[in-house]
Amino acid sequence: MKKILLMLCFMLALGMFACTEDSTASKSTEEIKTDSMTTYINELNNPYNVSLFVTTNLTTSIGINFEMPDKTNGYIEYCVSGSNLYYRTKANYKERTIGEQTVNLYDATIYDLSPNTYYEYRVVNEDNSEESPYYTFKTMSSDTESHSLLYLADPQETAEIGYMAYAYSILSVLDYSNAEVDLAMLPGDIVNNNYIQSQWNLFFKYSSMFCTKIPLAVAAGNHDLPFLTDPTVNQSEFDGYLNLPGNGPSYNSFNAISGDLREGDFDKGKTYSFDYGAAHIVVINTEVYCDSTIYCTYSDLDNIEVLHEWIKNDFKHSTAEWNIVMLHRGPYGLSYDSSEIRELLVPVLEDCGVDLVLAGHEHQYSRAIYFENHLIPFAESNDYTLGTVSLIKSSYPRMNFNNYSSSLGITYLTSNTSATKFYGGNQTSSIDVNYSFLDYYPVIPIITITEDEINVKSYVVIKETAYSIFPEEVLILEEFTITK
Ligand SMILES: [Fe+2]
Repeated sequence: MKKILLMLCFMLALGMFACTEDSTASKSTEEIKTDSMTTYINELNNPYNVSLFVTTNLTTSIGINFEMPDKTNGYIEYCVSGSNLYYRTKANYKERTIGEQTVNLYDATIYDLSPNTYYEYRVVNEDNSEESPYYTFKTMSSDTESHSLLYLADPQETAEIGYMAYAYSILSVLDYSNAEVDLAMLPGDIVNNNYIQSQWNLFFKYSSMFCTKIPLAVAAGNHDLPFLTDPTVNQSEFDGYLNLPGNGPSYNSFNAISGDLREGDFDKGKTYSFDYGAAHIVVINTEVYCDSTIYCTYSDLDNIEVLHEWIKNDFKHSTAEWNIVMLHRGPYGLSYDSSEIRELLVPVLEDCGVDLVLAGHEHQYSRAIYFENHLIPFAESNDYTLGTVSLIKSSYPRMNFNNYSSSLGITYLTSNTSATKFYGGNQTSSIDVNYSFLDYYPVIPIITITEDEINVKSYVVIKETAYSIFPEEVLILEEFTITK
């Protein structure tokens, strides 16, 4: 019963649902819990696709994106919670055509906010004939004490039931962990097909339990973007539905690949950086290394050099304790061998002193610590009940896989999908990793960053089958801590 009360408290704290009288006397605790989750998830609704997004300064600003049914002037109205003094900011209009449908999207960034302060906001059109509910968010505190984020890899669903399963998994992990998260990071493939409008709607509907309350940082995945020969590549759906910082690189014209229509600023809002507590986080659009094929056969090497110079310069100006990178295609994946990224990007990340790389794309969970393309050996680890840990017991010094210094190398954490698309035990690359978990269960890491350490607890959601939407149990798959 304690767990149920905790979950209900969590839902209520985030305004997830209103209290109602309920006759629960004849139900088991598990039935009550399942009923509560189902009621909550069935009531998720986000008709204006409202979402918050990271900015370069989360203590005093926030990014917002939304949709309106018609082309209009769109506004964000906001106030300090409890105040009657409302501000109104006009949003930028972004028209996208998806299939035969014109989609009217809007974005704005609100500045001059006070740190560590609750705000209420809603989105409206010109004459207030369209208005969202009021939502609440809290700006980040300006200290670098503990902050925790939710890491959600590859939802990539095609239908409502898949996104429902994603919502159940997230809610179950938040309930089990009792974590207070103030950021959600997604390494891409948030939809399966960027050309299908319903998938964007479903993503924002089922993400609304958190994306209207805490900001998202998203990396572009191969399923999220148009082909580089598609005229929409410079004004993609991804740019329309999301509102991410535009402080990334400006490229030269893309001439190396036949038919490449990308322009110099096509990557704004896809490669970017921001500060998060004690960490500086760089998000890289790894599709820049690709030619719209699965294995990225050709690259525009001149523009990759532009990207690498931007990454070096960006990290050079950071004074944060931790350097973190998020990208879609990781260099040490079990399923896909992204050799270009391993050969071209990894030396740059090592030069920049990156501590942790967060990846997706593989639909398998793994963790590897590499330096100069050598896998770091560990002699000891915690007990694992799931997955495979590769220890070299004779290695010296006797380092522990669950608590180690970032001076050993870069930690590459690749998470399994947070929804229902799993690749299982098929490893098609020949990459070695220290730990792998290949079962057909969603994994959701919660990452806590302080000045002294990065702590990761990865939660696995056990279900009857891969496509079941109801979780049976949540377990800690693994926990590890990186120190300086
Ligand atoms: Fe992918």
